[in-house]
Amino acid sequence: MSRDSSSRSSVASRLLRWFDQHGRKDLPWQKNITPYRVWLSEIMLQQTQVTTVIPYFERFTATFSTVTDLAAAPIDQVLHLWTGLGYYARARNLHKTAAIVASEYGGQFPDSVEALSQLPGIGPSTAGAIVSIAFRQRATILDGNVKRVLARHNAVPGWPGESAVVARLWEIAEHNTPKSRVADYTQAIMDLGATLCTRSKPRCDECPLQRDCAAFAQGNPTDYPGKKPKKTIPVKTAFFLIIRDQRGNVLLEQRPPTGIWGGLWSFPESACEDDIAHLCQRYGLKAGKVTLDTPRRHTFSHYHLDFTPVQVSASATGRISDVNTTWIQPSDLNGIGLPAPVKALLVEMAV
Ligand code: ADE
Ligand code: SF4
Repeated sequence: MSRDSSSRSSVASRLLRWFDQHGRKDLPWQKNITPYRVWLSEIMLQQTQVTTVIPYFERFTATFSTVTDLAAAPIDQVLHLWTGLGYYARARNLHKTAAIVASEYGGQFPDSVEALSQLPGIGPSTAGAIVSIAFRQRATILDGNVKRVLARHNAVPGWPGESAVVARLWEIAEHNTPKSRVADYTQAIMDLGATLCTRSKPRCDECPLQRDCAAFAQGNPTDYPGKKPKKTIPVKTAFFLIIRDQRGNVLLEQRPPTGIWGGLWSFPESACEDDIAHLCQRYGLKAGKVTLDTPRRHTFSHYHLDFTPVQVSASATGRISDVNTTWIQPSDLNGIGLPAPVKALLVEMAV
């Protein structure tokens, strides 16, 4: 890849040098390395932080010293030991995989990415971690931390949930994976993602990849990886009539019990600016001066509501129609159910 010529040493050699100085080397699963212990730790680490995993790993390995012991245990005991780690499908898959390794592989984990990826709960990245760390053979990983590092280092646009984006990241990950010291390299790139190239505050000044990091050069590391695209939702518009009397009371109307904001108190609402005077008549009012405020947006799960607050000075005509209305002081909103944007407007009026 073109970047290589501009960097004095490869990504792998810089990561390994960094790992030698700063990487984690005495985590429990880094001692007495076996495929069983590496597999167990990788499954636990899939969605859980290192500090949380440590005591669980210690208890599991103290209770089940081999995969065959784990396979022979009742699922209830496994789930009990897993309690607090979350994502319990992981524990069920762990037990299933232990049973398969015990019965079909004679208690020895297979040593290829292909065979490991067939086992429940082991995806291609976890398989790569097991092959590289436990079997010390060249294999590539691409977990969430590594995706972030590579997306930034190469300024890979797009959301890694898209197959084209993740395919590009795999290509880069494979290209970067060295032939020697692959176990340390695997641990190094995961550690870099977990400790330096973090999601919200990357410490680029301490990073061995900074000098050819494309996102660093652009000044926008946190723009990578791209976010899941937001679904576009429709926009509706409305005018909120803020009708005040001489004493500063504001007119609210209770919304119908079903539908959006059901039963809550809101401003009389008009779909169209030209209807404002006509609408006022329904409330027994004669509209005077009408002033439109700046429109605001409130977002529901299924649409945006762009609403324009309209200040209306109105005088009573005495005749109130059948709508359920009340006059309230903006400084006294207790005991009345208000939608958030309505409450916000009333609070602004009270100051
Ligand atoms: N996350 C997943 N695997 C890991 C490992 N081996 N070390 C640290 N964090 C990890
Ligand atoms: Fe991540 Fe910053 Fe290092 Fe680039 S320079 S890989 S953004 S920590």
